[in-house]
Amino acid sequence: MKIAVLAGDGIGPEIIAQGVRVLDVLRRDGLKIELESGLLGGCAVDATGEPFPDVTCQLVKDADAVMLGAVGGPQYDALSRENRPERGLLGIRKALNLFANLRPAILYPELANASTLKPEVVAGLDIMIVRELTGDIYFGEPRGIELRDNLRTGFNTMVYNEVEIRRIAHVAFQAAQKRDRKLCSVDKMNVLECTQLWRDVVTETAKDYPDVSLSHMLVDNAAMQLIRDPKQFDVMVTGNIFGDILSDEASMLTGSIGMLPSASLDENNKGLFEPIHGSAPDIAGKNVANPLATILSVAMMLRYTFNQEEAALRIESAVQKVLSQKYRTGDIFEPGTILVGTVEMGDAVLKNL
Ligand code: IPM
Ligand code: MG
Repeated sequence: MKIAVLAGDGIGPEIIAQGVRVLDVLRRDGLKIELESGLLGGCAVDATGEPFPDVTCQLVKDADAVMLGAVGGPQYDALSRENRPERGLLGIRKALNLFANLRPAILYPELANASTLKPEVVAGLDIMIVRELTGDIYFGEPRGIELRDNLRTGFNTMVYNEVEIRRIAHVAFQAAQKRDRKLCSVDKMNVLECTQLWRDVVTETAKDYPDVSLSHMLVDNAAMQLIRDPKQFDVMVTGNIFGDILSDEASMLTGSIGMLPSASLDENNKGLFEPIHGSAPDIAGKNVANPLATILSVAMMLRYTFNQEEAALRIESAVQKVLSQKYRTGDIFEPGTILVGTVEMGDAVLKNL
């Protein structure tokens, strides 16, 4: 298993270090794991002038999977658009054709009070958001800012073709088959043609999955329903921009964006695995960041890219034990639990592994 490790910026290096410790334990126990690190995001801009340098591109293409910390920081806000750290992230998604983004939102029973919603609304929550990641208004052309009739005018293009929609629909239906067999597709077909096609193609694809019950929802309603009654959802599938927004919303149902992992996969399940949260520059270097989302991302990597279900479950149950032993980083702390730092949280996971 050749894994490229891109720690990135802010708290990235601290949380990735804990994920690497977990991989070291698995290697000691017999998995053949090789790690090689590279630069992505702001740290790559500092070192090379580019957020996604060619050497990093080669490194991730040669690897079987990529572990990513987080990218970005206020010191890069003044850079031109092409040089922003976020461009590195978009570049790597496109370069590796990582079109399928899986973002689970799970509420661990121990953390039921961490949510801003009433515990009875969110207790037992387990949603999987499947977000298309390489198309839509994020990448559509034309795009830009130009003078039109002497007015500065900004424009982007929302575009999907049927192949792009069909392949993400298949991923979502198959995810639903492994869960509660309910899929909700989210669009804005009452206004946007692009998403009318989305709805048509998802509906056609449903014929291959008679065991999954498919529903459709407009994105504004979906945003509302996620707060009103989130447990009505099992798997949700949607395009890049709606998925960006809804997945942040869903993560907050669990009260702790610091707990949630993600996987971005290509057609062969090669993937990039990263916590959903960002680089949190305000707490970087202070040993307070929660490493559990990164550690759970290692579990997703073992499950989806390497088919090592047993190792994935071993990591997930270690995390669960740490929570039931009441270890908490600041983001999930409540009175009566034990406040620990990033490294100490890593120690606790290792002990339970
Ligand atoms: C995400 C992030 C990225 C996105 C940014 C950092 C480019 O918000 O992974 O959700 O918009 O996709
Ligand atoms: Mg986002």
